[in-house]
Amino acid sequence: MNNTVLKINNLNAGAEGKTILHDLNLQINAGETHVLMGPNGAGKSTLGNVILGNPQYSVTKGSIFWENTDITTLRTDERAQKGMFMSFQNPLEIPGISISQFIRTALQAQSGQNIRFKEFRTRINAAAKALHIKPEWINRELNVGFSGGERKKIEMLQLLMLQPKLAILDETDSGLDVDAVKTVSQGIETFQQNSDRSLLIITHNSKILEYLHVDFVHIIVNGTIVKTGSASLIEVINEQGYEPFLDDK
Ligand SMILES: Nc1ncnc2c1ncn2[C@@H]1O[C@H](COP(=O)(O)OP(=O)(O)OP(=O)(O)O)[C@@H](O)[C@H]1O
Ligand SMILES: [Mg+2]
Repeated sequence: MNNTVLKINNLNAGAEGKTILHDLNLQINAGETHVLMGPNGAGKSTLGNVILGNPQYSVTKGSIFWENTDITTLRTDERAQKGMFMSFQNPLEIPGISISQFIRTALQAQSGQNIRFKEFRTRINAAAKALHIKPEWINRELNVGFSGGERKKIEMLQLLMLQPKLAILDETDSGLDVDAVKTVSQGIETFQQNSDRSLLIITHNSKILEYLHVDFVHIIVNGTIVKTGSASLIEVINEQGYEPFLDDK
């Protein structure tokens, strides 16, 4: 039997009185990689935010389960502690806190244990090297003054250091040059090698998926998943766009 990490049942959710997600169902098991694709404004980022419990969004129907526990009303930090991670389409700047401090604090919150500085430093330096991140970046303030592509790489560094059970990557590849796409996808591949880790990758660009193993592809239109298939669905979308799926809703 597969271990279910995340199960979303008949979810309606929205913001500012508007329902964005309608009757949405999704199940992610341990070790699976899911890809979420869909037109602009379909509700992809909203779904990621709702899974993570962003307070800007409210759930008006249905439920979200994490490993058989109902987490629909849990706070974001409580969900993160359970092993959930999200990289944002537009990463936040956090002045005053270095990348190194941020990741070490997050790791300690996750494990509930103090992590020795030397051991932490060795690990973060190795992860940074694998992602072609300059060592001096680690001491800079989180995302402040970094280019868009550099921020995405820093998010990959967080992913590899935190090793969450479920990582939601929202357009991690947008704005990356060809070499950076390769580096980031290698980072994701390294994450996938840990066989019980799950991924929900939101993307418009199938380039990043060329190097990755994908189990399921979901197409979301107007806040509902209208089609689920295997990785071959990506090719159909690349050739035909979302037009064939618009009538399904
Ligand atoms: N906090 C919010 N308040 C009001 N409306 C919102 C909010 N967040 C999202 N929306 C609206 O919900 C819809 C879905 O937005 P969302 O960002 O989830 O789309 P998306 O699928 O991620 O699109 P893209 O591919 O352009 O990133 C859009 O019409 C958007 O304007
Ligand atoms: Mg989005």
